[in-house]
Amino acid sequence: MLSEKEITLVRNTWDLIAPVSQEMGIQFYEHLFETSPELKPLFKTNPKDQAMKLMFMLSYFVHRLDKENDLRDEIKKLAQRHSGYGAKPEHYKLIGDTLLWSLQKNLGKQWNKETESAWKNTYRFISGLMIEAQNGK
Ligand code: HEM
Repeated sequence: MLSEKEITLVRNTWDLIAPVSQEMGIQFYEHLFETSPELKPLFKTNPKDQAMKLMFMLSYFVHRLDKENDLRDEIKKLAQRHSGYGAKPEHYKLIGDTLLWSLQKNLGKQWNKETESAWKNTYRFISGLMIEAQNGK
């Protein structure tokens, strides 16, 4: 589980991202396809809509990090849809690295060891639940 301090750090930094949310979503996919071109064929939706969906879902998670039961239900459903999209457990690290890259790029001076560690733990928590649900546990 995440500490209260981590949750606060993640929320506060996420709020700072809000004004550049769409740009960050687009940069996210550009960087992902540059660094992991093998994932590109899995994504059929246009990048702008895709970026919006991703940022919306992340926002939903970020605001419910202290409500584990709500989070688990939603993550389970998302994970089941991801099995249909062709997402594999080994892909989660690629997505996580890209998310951290995008946050670092957009948070500038607000990005430090503490925020990095809070975001790493948050992504580890969410992706762990998704992988578990995809594996049918
Ligand atoms: C915590 C991690 C992730 C989050 C929060 C996330 C979020 C989302 C969201 C919100 C959508 C929109 C459709 C829906 O709601 O079902 C989506 C679609 C998709 N995601 Fe993810 N995702 C994650 C990890 C991954 C991973 C590891 C892959 C592997 C490549 C992946 C591949 C896809 C694909 C292929 C689509 C469908 C694209 C399309 O409609 O063309 N996602 N994701």
